[in-house]
Amino acid sequence: MTIKIAPSILSADFSRLGEEVKAIDEAGCDYIHIDVMDGHFVPNLTFGPPIIKCIRKVTKKPFDVHLMIDPAQPYLEDYAAAGADIITVHAEADKHLDRSLQVIRGLGKKAGVSLNPATPESVIEYVMDKVDLILVMSVNPGFGGQSFIESQVGKIRNIRKMIGKRPIELQVDGGVNVDTIKTVVDAGADVLVAGSAVFKGDDYKATIAALHNALK
Ligand code: DX5
Ligand code: ZN
Repeated sequence: MTIKIAPSILSADFSRLGEEVKAIDEAGCDYIHIDVMDGHFVPNLTFGPPIIKCIRKVTKKPFDVHLMIDPAQPYLEDYAAAGADIITVHAEADKHLDRSLQVIRGLGKKAGVSLNPATPESVIEYVMDKVDLILVMSVNPGFGGQSFIESQVGKIRNIRKMIGKRPIELQVDGGVNVDTIKTVVDAGADVLVAGSAVFKGDDYKATIAALHNALK
């Protein structure tokens, strides 16, 4: 299984955002994970479409846009137009997950669904054929640098079974670092979001390599 690393720019230096995105691209990341927060679904505020449009110019790597906003549906078109490649909505947001996923695919983008730590995997049972990515939150969304919630390992394992042979990526977000990455990959994750673990040092190539090495 090929493992992808998606650094979360939530932990980047915002005064040099363009340079930071370029740096993680050159360091060999697979996706650029962009955490969109609305101060309502989560207690923090971050990026809107204009910022995403600006950083779109500095890299060709896929933009993995994690929408922690409620409602998300009225803004899907804006995020697609800003340059998102994958758009992930939360199962706990909006009222019609099935429709949101259809809208995202209709915009020609990959559709993702995210589950908060307290949300059971059963909520996605009937949309499995409408998703390209499933994101298991292993912290309560809102902030970088929190500790990994162990109870999510069982959920990752269950979702890997639900995926079966479908071409769906299983992403884990929150508290992923050299100490926790092997556990989540062994449970079935194949895309790892890492914010503080990547941006804490100056040598992003070394931190991304350290994450891959921790799997050996
Ligand atoms: C949390 C975000 C995460 C966050 C991860 O709400 O969805 O992407 O940036 O940060 P770390 O890797 O530091 O836990
Ligand atoms: Zn995220």
